[in-house]
Amino acid sequence: MNRGTIKLNNPERFPKGYEIPREKVQKAIDLALDKLSSKIDIYMDKFPGECSDDCKFDLVENINWTHGLHTGTYFLAYELSGDKRFLEVGKNHIPSYKKRLDEKINLNDHDVGFVYSPSVIAYHKLTGDEAAKQMAILAAEHLYVDGYSEKGGFILRVGEMQHVSGFCRTMMDTLMNIPLFYWAGEQTGNYKFADAANSQVDITNRCLIREDGSSYHHYQFEVGTHKPLHGVTFQGNRDESTWSRGHSWGVLGLPIAYTYSKDESILPLHRDVTYYMLNHLPEDYIPYWDYDYTDGDEPRDSSAAVIAVCGMLEAIRYLPDSAPEKEIYKSAAAKILESVIDTCATGCGKDFDGLIYKVTPARKMPSYGVEVCASYGDYFYLEALMRYVNPDWKRYW
Ligand code: GLY
Repeated sequence: MNRGTIKLNNPERFPKGYEIPREKVQKAIDLALDKLSSKIDIYMDKFPGECSDDCKFDLVENINWTHGLHTGTYFLAYELSGDKRFLEVGKNHIPSYKKRLDEKINLNDHDVGFVYSPSVIAYHKLTGDEAAKQMAILAAEHLYVDGYSEKGGFILRVGEMQHVSGFCRTMMDTLMNIPLFYWAGEQTGNYKFADAANSQVDITNRCLIREDGSSYHHYQFEVGTHKPLHGVTFQGNRDESTWSRGHSWGVLGLPIAYTYSKDESILPLHRDVTYYMLNHLPEDYIPYWDYDYTDGDEPRDSSAAVIAVCGMLEAIRYLPDSAPEKEIYKSAAAKILESVIDTCATGCGKDFDGLIYKVTPARKMPSYGVEVCASYGDYFYLEALMRYVNPDWKRYW
């Protein structure tokens, strides 16, 4: 496919040199840290349910893909504040990740990287803990054996290794699971991990991202032959539309993959994906849950906003000053993050358990809630703030 062809339709919305006032960013960080601090006792050994109900989280065990991000939120809080109480919360969670791996608790899943990168790898990176490193390598091995199809060259959607349904799928989300493979490859010297991660990027380019820079959520393959069949936008509005959060996994996952593989073909692909998003942002810069919508009353997805901010701030770390998208990404990241601070975060005037609300997990599955709080919204909001104030932050991915 011809990449690098998508034009930004609205550059005037992203003025060169735009920055969020420093006091506003610091206040947002302080409010987030205050909220996390007030919940330290609660979260010392419990995890929030996947999404809030009436703005409040249930308390559950460590069982979900979102829980790695919850632990990571406390590690970010530690790094932003230096307050060791936050580190203690994350440290206290680590044995529950060993239990999950030993007992394979909800790990028959493409999302093993979401579980282990921001939690166990982060803990290893912050403290040098060797047992955490070994645990994360075993998690990568588990994802490789249980979730990666060598024949197809992609990570299968949850539970589809067994091929019970007549087809199998891979998906955009998986771009955030391959950093676990890249990292494990670096730690072990085993090339199979980077080969698998690179192959996932290649399949994403060939199957999941359309010519116009938009994306399918899933792509379906024939069982047995692994012949590509067609795209499916499972959590989006329709198969040919673009689910905002899935798309944002591309805005963040591709530049992370580039930092490991240095594959130059990722750069124009990433620019197309990012420009597609920027071309579809509504007036206040907070994406609707699907890019079929750019105005009106449909729900927003603030998680898609903050994930994309992280992706643009990752890309500007390696883009040369001569790359025209660099200034656009800086300004767009600031505009989007500022709007999240003003309209979706603690301090916006609404009382909720998370750090941000207006996360819409799956509009067509209302049991997940609409414009709620979720751990992935909170984690990537804090990661976005971290990246904004500390561009050299050593990421967990
Ligand atoms: N599994 C990642 C997501 O639902 O976005």
